Amino acid sequence: SPRIRIAPSILAADFARLGEQVREAEDAGADWIHVDVMDGRFVPNISMGLVVVEALKRVARVPLDVHLMIVEPERYLEDFARAGADHLTVHAEATPHAHRAVQRIRELGLKAGLAVNPGTPLGFFKPLLPDLDVALLMTVNPGFGGQSFIAGSLPRLRLLRQMADEMNPACLIEVDGGINRETARQCAEAGAQVLVAGSSVFNGKASVAHNLQALREGL
Ligand code: DX5
Ligand code: ZN
Repeated sequence: SPRIRIAPSILAADFARLGEQVREAEDAGADWIHVDVMDGRFVPNISMGLVVVEALKRVARVPLDVHLMIVEPERYLEDFARAGADHLTVHAEATPHAHRAVQRIRELGLKAGLAVNPGTPLGFFKPLLPDLDVALLMTVNPGFGGQSFIAGSLPRLRLLRQMADEMNPACLIEVDGGINRETARQCAEAGAQVLVAGSSVFNGKASVAHNLQALREGL
């Protein structure tokens, strides 16, 4: 099976030394850098926006995987593309125009992702799967780092894997939330190809390199 990609989420990083933390993650083999954009409306938290993506773009050597947890994401696609996002993921629940948003992301020359929350039927993926580069299955309710993995995500992941195999085998399945050594292995077994990990990578208890290594070894 192809190599599992790991995308550290900088939401859990030390923001006073973001550049260094990105470099540490890249040196330790991070495949993508995951950037969580929250607007305080789609999710009950506010995180970072365009200026942070611009700053990250100046230091990052791997793709910036930008996860938009904002309402009406179609209003900001051009801005995030200009700021340096390489992948843009919008939430199915955040817009009545997910299809249009995905088309637009592709027109902008970026990889397009669609995300669904734990309470959202997988059927939301169906009409869009043929056009997706990334299908993001949330494994916690979005808004905060450090939450526990929702166990019911595993059967959903297996089902999504089957859907993607039938409709678009090239589409990467990404999981996000509560990914640690244990759940990383379970998700990889269930068909995830991209693992987003925040607090298990940037927890300050051990080095970023050590933490990433531990995640990989568990696979
Ligand atoms: C949750 C974000 C995640 C978050 C994951 O709303 O989308 O990317 O940073 O954090 P951990 O890995 O700590 O659950
Ligand atoms: Zn995320």
